[in-house]
Amino acid sequence: MDRQAFQIILNYLSDGVILMDEQRSIYYLNQKAKDLTGWHIGGLVPYCSYCRIREVQPGEQRCILALDNPLPLFQAHMPTYEGVDESLEMSSSRIEIEDESYIILTVRDPKWNMEKEKNKIKRLLVHDTLRAQEETQKRLTQELHDHIGQSVYSVFLGLQGLKGATINDRYQKHLQLLDHTLQQTMEDIKRLSKQLRPVIIDQLGIKQALQDSVKDWEYIYKIAIALHIEDIAMIDKEKELHIYRIIQEAVRNAVKHGQATAIDISFKVEADTLYFKIEDNGKGFNVLASKKNGFGLYHMIERMEMIGGKIDWESNIGEGTKVIGSIKLKEK
Ligand SMILES: Nc1ncnc2c1ncn2[C@@H]1O[C@H](COP(=O)(O)OP(=O)(O)O)[C@@H](O)[C@H]1O
Ligand SMILES: [Mg+2]
Repeated sequence: MDRQAFQIILNYLSDGVILMDEQRSIYYLNQKAKDLTGWHIGGLVPYCSYCRIREVQPGEQRCILALDNPLPLFQAHMPTYEGVDESLEMSSSRIEIEDESYIILTVRDPKWNMEKEKNKIKRLLVHDTLRAQEETQKRLTQELHDHIGQSVYSVFLGLQGLKGATINDRYQKHLQLLDHTLQQTMEDIKRLSKQLRPVIIDQLGIKQALQDSVKDWEYIYKIAIALHIEDIAMIDKEKELHIYRIIQEAVRNAVKHGQATAIDISFKVEADTLYFKIEDNGKGFNVLASKKNGFGLYHMIERMEMIGGKIDWESNIGEGTKVIGSIKLKEK
C-alpha cells in the first residue's frame, strides 16, 4: 500500500494518533488527533495535567511519555494551543525508525466513548426486553387459548344443551341472555389473544395477519383503515413480527393521540428495499419533541434497529402523521 493509502486509513481512525520525538516535537498527527487537541505538525506536545505537577527526579524527563516504561493507558487533561484543557485518555509506545527513537501517542475522548458504550448497552438491554416481552405474550396467548378459552367454550356448549332441554319461557329468556354474553366473551378472548400475539403471523405471515387485524382495529377503534399490501416474499418471520408490532403501535398512536378518523397502511417494494407507511388524518405532533416522551416511538425505533431497518415520522401539528419504515429485502 502506498503512503497516501495509509494516510487515508489513519484519518478514518476513531482514535487520535500522534507521532512525536523525545523532545515532544510533533511529526505527524491524524485528523482525529487534530480535532481532539488542536495541535499541529511541527508544534510541541504540551505537558499533561499530571506531568505539569509531578515531582521530577534530577536528570529525569518531566514528560511521563518519554520515560523508558511509559504508562500503557492513563487519563489526563491535555491543554490545546488555545489553552483549553481537554480530558483525554492516552496511551503511548516507543518505536525506532531509522535508529531514531519516537513515541506514538494515541488519544481518545473518554466522554465520547463512555456515552457511546452506555448507549450501546442500553439499546442491547431494550432489545432483550422486547424479545422477552414477545415470548411472554406468546405464552399468555397460548394459556388464554388452551385454558380460559376452552373453559368458556365448554360452558357455552353446556348452555346450548340446557337451552334445548328447557321449555320454560322465563328460563329460556335468561339462557338467551347468558348465551349472548358468553358469545361476546369468546369474541373478546379471541381479540385479546390476537392483540397479545397474532398467531396467524407465525402461520401465514404479515399480510394475512394485517388483513385480519385491520378488521379488529376498525371494530375496536371505530375508525376506517385502508390496507394496501402485496405478497411480501424474502423477509423472515422475526422481521415480519417487528413490522407488525410497529404498525400496531402506529395505529394505536393515531387513534389515542391523533384522534384520527382514517388510517392508510401501505407497503411498497422498490429495488431491494421494502417500504411501509402508516398515514393518519389526526392532529399531528412535534416529532422531535415527542421522541423522548413515551416508550412507543422509542420501541418502534429500536425494533427497526433490531432488524436492520430504519423508521421516521413526518408530522406537523394540525396536519396528520406519516410513519415511514424501510428495510432491505434478503438477496434472492
Ligand atoms: N400518530 C400520532 N398523532 C399524534 N401524536 C402522536 C402520534 N404518534 C405519537 N404522537 C405523540 O408522540 C408521543 C409519544 O408517543 P409514544 O412514544 O407512542 O407514547 P405513548 O406510550 O404515550 O403512546 C405521544 O404522547 C403523542 O404526543
Ligand atoms: Mg404509543
